[in-house]
Amino acid sequence: MGITIKDKAAIEKMRVAGRLTAQTLEMIAPHVKAGVSTEQLDQICHDYIVNDLQAIPAPLNYKGFPKSICTSVNNQICHGIPGPKKLKDGDIINVDISVIKDGYHGDSSITFFVGEPSVLAKRLVDATRECLYVGIAQVKPGASIKDIGKAIQEHVKQYNYSIVREYCGHGIGEGFHEEPQILHYESNEQADVILKPGMCFTIEPMINAGKRFVKHLPDNWTVVTKDRSLSAQWEHTLLVTDDGVDILTLREKEIPPENL
Ligand code: MF3
Ligand code: CO
Repeated sequence: MGITIKDKAAIEKMRVAGRLTAQTLEMIAPHVKAGVSTEQLDQICHDYIVNDLQAIPAPLNYKGFPKSICTSVNNQICHGIPGPKKLKDGDIINVDISVIKDGYHGDSSITFFVGEPSVLAKRLVDATRECLYVGIAQVKPGASIKDIGKAIQEHVKQYNYSIVREYCGHGIGEGFHEEPQILHYESNEQADVILKPGMCFTIEPMINAGKRFVKHLPDNWTVVTKDRSLSAQWEHTLLVTDDGVDILTLREKEIPPENL
């Protein structure tokens, strides 16, 4: 299908889908605390997306995924399936929200702290969010996709962390996962893909406190770190504009990190 360039009408629908995705994360934030189970978080998001937003939770039944959101706790990297296990103080949890509205997708995730984080967890989660923003800062017409992964890899260097390679950002629109793939590490694979106004894609770096290697749980979805180290992720849906980038899933009170 190739990379789609969204026209004005499609961009307007992407903006709406992005806003609803951001609103769902704003809504769920105060519910993320010790004692709540990840399936309770799923239920609350599901009901909000379907009833309040009149939208569709994109993960539900996507390639057989059984729930409406992904929840990935501690050493889980991504695609965690919500279940009965309750959050406890000191956990970190990525809540990944994807909605479809009027045929278009929004996709965004946050890693939350449950109670007080350890020094290691705070450093990892903050560094991962910096990586997202370092990637976003590369996005403008004329830049290459390669610049995004390269900048993230450069930024991670100062930490003893590793970048997950098996999962990447993606084009997004009428499809949940469209071309191109957005790698979060330096690679020549897509050096020739040049960003143009009207492209929409996600950046969603997954950073491990230990080694980069991944393992799948027997549920065939949940991806965990092979060495059981902590992993964090942050994701936004982006639009390439005439002179830069719009963050379509920006939350109302979100302030980009200062130390970049
Ligand atoms: N943001 C995630 C991604 O793009 C959402 C995955 S939903 C799932 O991979 F259903 F595929 F798990
Ligand atoms: Co995504």
